[in-house]
Amino acid sequence: MTENQIRELIEAAIQARRMSYAPYSHYKVGAALLAENGQIFQGCNIENAAYTPTNCAERTAFFKAVSEGVREFKAIAVVGSPDGDELTQFASPCGVCRQVMMEFCDPEVFRIIVARSVTDYRCMTLREMLPCGFGPDNVTKSIIDRRKAWG
Ligand code: THU
Repeated sequence: MTENQIRELIEAAIQARRMSYAPYSHYKVGAALLAENGQIFQGCNIENAAYTPTNCAERTAFFKAVSEGVREFKAIAVVGSPDGDELTQFASPCGVCRQVMMEFCDPEVFRIIVARSVTDYRCMTLREMLPCGFGPDNVTKSIIDRRKAWG
């Protein structure tokens, strides 16, 4: 990815964060997911009075893309911090979001950009973020093995 692409993705995540609905935690997160076809899907966290239905910004972006027929992705930018415009920390994707990424992304190449500004960011592969992850290959390969065993 070029510096310009990274900057554009972080800007889109910062913009998405403005839509965050976080009346309970007051912790606002924005994400921007870059698809292989060049489309960018934005997402924010959406909280709920019953707490557990809360959806993270990253999953909002993924579910928007997948529900529109897009399943191949290059990278995601994430920005999160307590209420207010200032990004005071690096908000790393939670375990559930990492697992959703495992479903649709090649862990060796998919990049996660966690940012505090367009110039202050950390970039990691999904493999680095979720070592020893469990993915679709585990299940589909075992189905193939079972079919072979049954003849
Ligand atoms: N949150 C995200 O949106 N993404 C993450 O990866 C971590 C947590 C949200 C969920 C909740 O609305 C708030 O941040 C505080 O946990």
